[in-house]
Amino acid sequence: MSTKHRNPWTTEVVADYVASHTAEPDALQQELIDETAAALGGRSRMQISSDEGAAISLLVRLIGASNAVEVGTFTGYSALCIARAIGPHGHLLCCDVSEEWTAIGRRYWERDGVADRIDLQIRPAIETLSALPLDEAIDIAFIDADKSSYLAYFEALLPRMRRNGLILVDNTLWGGTAAEPASADDDADTAAIKVFNDLIATDARVESYILPIADGLTLIRKR
Ligand SMILES: C[S@@+](CC[C@H](N)C(=O)[O-])C[C@H]1O[C@@H](n2cnc3c(N)ncnc32)[C@H](O)[C@@H]1O
Repeated sequence: MSTKHRNPWTTEVVADYVASHTAEPDALQQELIDETAAALGGRSRMQISSDEGAAISLLVRLIGASNAVEVGTFTGYSALCIARAIGPHGHLLCCDVSEEWTAIGRRYWERDGVADRIDLQIRPAIETLSALPLDEAIDIAFIDADKSSYLAYFEALLPRMRRNGLILVDNTLWGGTAAEPASADDDADTAAIKVFNDLIATDARVESYILPIADGLTLIRKR
């Protein structure tokens, strides 16, 4: 299995090499990839790639995270990666607005034995996040929903993260267009990503790095 989301800054050979050496999905993950593609066609591109899933699992384990939040769950692939990595005593809060798409994920979480550590909330993510206590208890968060709300999600999450907690943000290179100068022709998502990246880069409350894997994955550490 190779990475699905080729980016323009990595050659096909290198992408396949990385995928085959560090990121082969197991049988259950592959089934979820295949079912998402069969059921949702072109929309399946919203699913994170297997190499990104492997990197996220590694980061979750690296910081010893047990309390996780996901914003944008879709058919549950990234949630499956996070839920496995937080271990049996971990807790993952998932935010999405689609019963239909997340119902696919629920079946796979059940089969994998991780469903009891996942709390899926179906309503706008900003409502779910705003209702969380300000107790700085979240170890890791993954933002992968509507791009125009990225800043709002970041601001809602930051005061709820523990010190040295990690916020991961997907699609921050946006196919490479994030690196182009802001333009009046930018669509709303492109403009939102550019504003988000500019603000995070200068935000003294955090330390960050844009990992150029998949479509760009920003790592943000709370100081
Ligand atoms: C890119 S997909 C997430 C992919 C997922 N992380 C995976 O690995 O398959 C984006 C998801 O965000 C959800 N979404 C969009 N707007 C939202 C909102 N306002 N609140 C919560 N979820 C939202 C969509 O329903 C969709 O499932």
